[in-house]
Amino acid sequence: MSAQGAGGGREQEPNAEGLTSPLIVALDTDDPRRLAELAAAVAPHAGLLKVGLQAFTALGPAAVTAAGQHAEVFFDCKLHDIPNTVAAAAGAAARMGIAMLTVHASGGPAMIAAACKAAPDITILAVTVLTSLDDADLAVVGQPPVAQQVVRLAGMAAEAGAGGVVCAASDVAAVRAEIGDGLAVVVPGIRPHGSTSDDQRRIADPRTALRTGASHLVVGRPITQARDPAAAAAALLAEIA
Ligand code: C5P
Repeated sequence: MSAQGAGGGREQEPNAEGLTSPLIVALDTDDPRRLAELAAAVAPHAGLLKVGLQAFTALGPAAVTAAGQHAEVFFDCKLHDIPNTVAAAAGAAARMGIAMLTVHASGGPAMIAAACKAAPDITILAVTVLTSLDDADLAVVGQPPVAQQVVRLAGMAAEAGAGGVVCAASDVAAVRAEIGDGLAVVVPGIRPHGSTSDDQRRIADPRTALRTGASHLVVGRPITQARDPAAAAAALLAEIA
């Protein structure tokens, strides 16, 4: 496990507003030019830049290198495999120079502990229940309702040594009650006022998410698909100032 709370692994530089930003912008694209443009445009407003499945599958480590030229990188490939394989992948991910890495909490405590041991200098985040899923979706795969499952997974992940968890804004208060204030709580499904929900079901506005205890907010499409991504990022920060 490494640094917690708003730091996400290393001390962040103040952003364009002179503040340490809780904003993580998801660079979800498979176009290397677009990724570089987006990274340069939004980095002055973001605490971290997120490289996820789409960019990494299309572009490989070059996506991390390109994002890392502008800000700390949150590598969000949600690892889920046997402990030995996840440990090896976490070690390889850490060597790319990232600050944060996600694994699926449902991979279990041995898998989470193995990732933390293999990458002790970065923050390992355990994804609880994806923000695109609701109670009906979990019932289909034989799991308890979201509120119950999120708290159970968050407590187990913290116990296993994770540096934080990922959950929806609606679950943050219960997660904080379970894991305390020391760990990062990263919240995707953030939608500024006036934007669409896309495929996210359990969405919240940025101010609400922070007020309930989130340390970081993940925002993708409302910023990356805006006509002016830098202005959209700045506007989102103004909403929480
Ligand atoms: O475009 P949007 O703001 O919905 O993007 C959310 C980003 O956060 C995506 O990259 C998605 O993979 C990621 N994410 C999520 N839900 C989680 C964890 C990560 O939506 N529980």
